[in-house]
Amino acid sequence: MNTKTTVISQEALDAQFAYCDQIAAYWQSLGIAPTAYVETYGCQQNEADSEKLRGYLVQSGYGIAAEAEGADVVIMNTCAIREHAEQRVFGNLGALTHTKRRHPRQKIFLCGCMAGETKVSDRIRQSYPHVDGVFSTHHLWQFPEILWNVLNRQKRQFFIEDEPGSIAEGIPQVRDSRLKAWVSIMYGCNNFCTYCIVPYVRGRERSRQPEDILAECRALIESGTKDITLLGQNVNSYGKDLSCGMDFADLLAAIAQIPGDFLVRFMTSHPRDASEKLFDTMAKYPKIAKQLHLPFQSGSTRVLKAMNRHYDRETYLQKVLYAKKVMPELVLTSDVIVGFPGETEEEFEETISLIQQVHYDSLFTFIFSPRPGTPAAKLDDPTPKAEKNRRFDKLCAVQNAISEEIHGSYIGKTLRCLVDGRDKELLTARTEGGRLVRFPGCDKLIGTYQHITITGATTWSLSGEIEKSSIKNSI
Ligand code: SAH
Ligand code: SF4
Ligand code: F3S
Repeated sequence: MNTKTTVISQEALDAQFAYCDQIAAYWQSLGIAPTAYVETYGCQQNEADSEKLRGYLVQSGYGIAAEAEGADVVIMNTCAIREHAEQRVFGNLGALTHTKRRHPRQKIFLCGCMAGETKVSDRIRQSYPHVDGVFSTHHLWQFPEILWNVLNRQKRQFFIEDEPGSIAEGIPQVRDSRLKAWVSIMYGCNNFCTYCIVPYVRGRERSRQPEDILAECRALIESGTKDITLLGQNVNSYGKDLSCGMDFADLLAAIAQIPGDFLVRFMTSHPRDASEKLFDTMAKYPKIAKQLHLPFQSGSTRVLKAMNRHYDRETYLQKVLYAKKVMPELVLTSDVIVGFPGETEEEFEETISLIQQVHYDSLFTFIFSPRPGTPAAKLDDPTPKAEKNRRFDKLCAVQNAISEEIHGSYIGKTLRCLVDGRDKELLTARTEGGRLVRFPGCDKLIGTYQHITITGATTWSLSGEIEKSSIKNSI
């Protein structure tokens, strides 16, 4: 198998931009201003991909719509991580038969991680004739060509050929927010955790060149972005496939030294490769947010081995202890799976004791979902569903109590927060660690940093008011 990363050439991208021009001219000749709606499922990687799809669409003359009803293009950018996520997509895809009936020129596309599964594309071919095109993440850079083929040839398009993966620089992006930006630093995953479908649908690990990433970050900061999240399935492997002599900590340090008032954060870190150098770098630079998402998945060394995670409970705990030592204010979050095949009650209790020991600010909790084609889906799984649900509920209850306690300890503190929007009558803001704060204030504060004194807390969020002595519009 060819495992080499393909770098998409400028000529190949220019050919895509030529399709954008053709599509725009096509609509212009009809005297129609077309619209497009992109629905995103799954993780930030998909959010970032949707921003590129919107970029291509705008370049092709489309206005971005807020719903599928009446839109000329509908794209479902899907997630395959758990069975439930896939069922939701199929349900919503079915409902699009009605929007298309009411607006017959609507063209419907399915892309993202589900599009990388043969069983999904087969099902679309056979049972969803109203879907005009399917393309996997490897083919996103060819979207203008796919759209043009659908418009021009009136024929369904399937761009689903598997490949190790490519890097395309220079696809336009229409970002969701002016204040916050996702910046992918690498794509794919080489880890093959036994439960996970991502390596099968997103290909091998491949890093963008540091100068491309730095240029993107510089441009964002100059245009007013205040919060950058670097994205990758395992950011700690950054650069291993390049010969640039830079690892992830070096890249982070370089970004943190760009002039301007901003914070940089990242996700996700695989504990195996999370180094003391990374934590020291985070501690050293004020512009690196003291927030770490470090998924542990299970507190049992036996289960971690069966998951192919390449670290054990003790090593994980040592790393967390070190990170907390060098960054006492660290906000720490994690992912955990309950009910992995063969997980015993004792092993589950090890997960509980780990979360009690670490004291996470919050957790993303999942019940194991067998993904066809992954090794874990073939394992014997004798634990009944009801028992898994009981474990899940217990896990959530323990964590909720911890989150509530940690949030409670914020009361009385004054924190510098980025005001990022409005939720009904209150403004919303984020602490440096990413905690949500609601407080009264006027819209002109959106986009500024404010010092907020925390006056209330729940499991999920904080509330407060602007520090009386220092009402300021920006810092
Ligand atoms: N690359 C990230 C995780 C991406 S997927 C990392 O390694 O940390 C996000 C989370 O979904 C995972 O951390 C895991 O907790 C969960 N997950 C992945 N596959 C799953 C499955 N088959 N069943 C249940 N949860 C799963
Ligand atoms: Fe999936 Fe593991 Fe890769 Fe994360 S590191 S994307 S859990 S295979
Ligand atoms: Fe889902 Fe793909 Fe992300 S499977 S979690 S959208 S990488």
